[in-house]
Amino acid sequence: MDRDAIGVFDSGMGGLTAVKVLNQILPHENIIYFGDTARIPYGTRSRQTIQRYTKEDIAFLRRHPVKMIIAACGTVSSMLGADSPVDDMPFTGVVYPAARAACAATQNGRVGIIGTPATVASGSYETAIHNVDPRVDVTAMACPLFVHLVEYGYTKRNDPITRLAAEEYLAPIRSAGVDTLILGCTHYPIIADTIGDIMGDGVRLISASEEAAKFTKQTLEEHDLLTDSTEQGHNVYYVSDSVSMFRDNARHFLEDAVNGQVFSSRI
Ligand code: DGL
Repeated sequence: MDRDAIGVFDSGMGGLTAVKVLNQILPHENIIYFGDTARIPYGTRSRQTIQRYTKEDIAFLRRHPVKMIIAACGTVSSMLGADSPVDDMPFTGVVYPAARAACAATQNGRVGIIGTPATVASGSYETAIHNVDPRVDVTAMACPLFVHLVEYGYTKRNDPITRLAAEEYLAPIRSAGVDTLILGCTHYPIIADTIGDIMGDGVRLISASEEAAKFTKQTLEEHDLLTDSTEQGHNVYYVSDSVSMFRDNARHFLEDAVNGQVFSSRI
């Protein structure tokens, strides 16, 4: 048992979709979140730059009492591959948990993946899926506008601008006949309704954020690291840009006001 916090980081706000699920399934755990809001987006940057930012984000979280770290960012997770960047505590990205869930969900063996340009170019989800089940057929599509549409609040179900972009991006995935689609970027669960309407009822959406949160619970159980506290856990947020901008934007991700203190911090 361990009362230290779960450390979660993302390039900005997207990781809040994982925090939301963590709060639901692990209500007694404390969470320390770092959002690199001054440097978002990561998904259009080079591998070297994303890897450097990732090291700095992890070093920041390690200055706090954390017992496990989650890279709640599809882009960061994709650059890391299968190697853990920490060797003294459990770590997870979002790719493997989502790949595992997609392989378990698909009936027809055809899985779609959507993510940032860096994520899709890396082939990370294909690799992870094929490690679990080499027979699965994968179709991937980068959706660069989605992060911006979510950040600017075009998030209502079937918002006309988001719908137009989504129809364009999802056309090849629909043509491939997938029955399972991984939302491989932590921003995308916010527009899951619109994506789901376009894909149709027969397609199961897998949220990489949600799967990473479930995987974290399982990992903490396996390592006997769950807290023994019976009180409501606390969330503390650190961001590299303005606190007020974070508070305003976070509403899109949490569908509620930020539930915890927010500090602006240099990394
Ligand atoms: N959080 C990133 C991801 O999940 C999206 C935003 C970005 O490009 O930094 O891929």
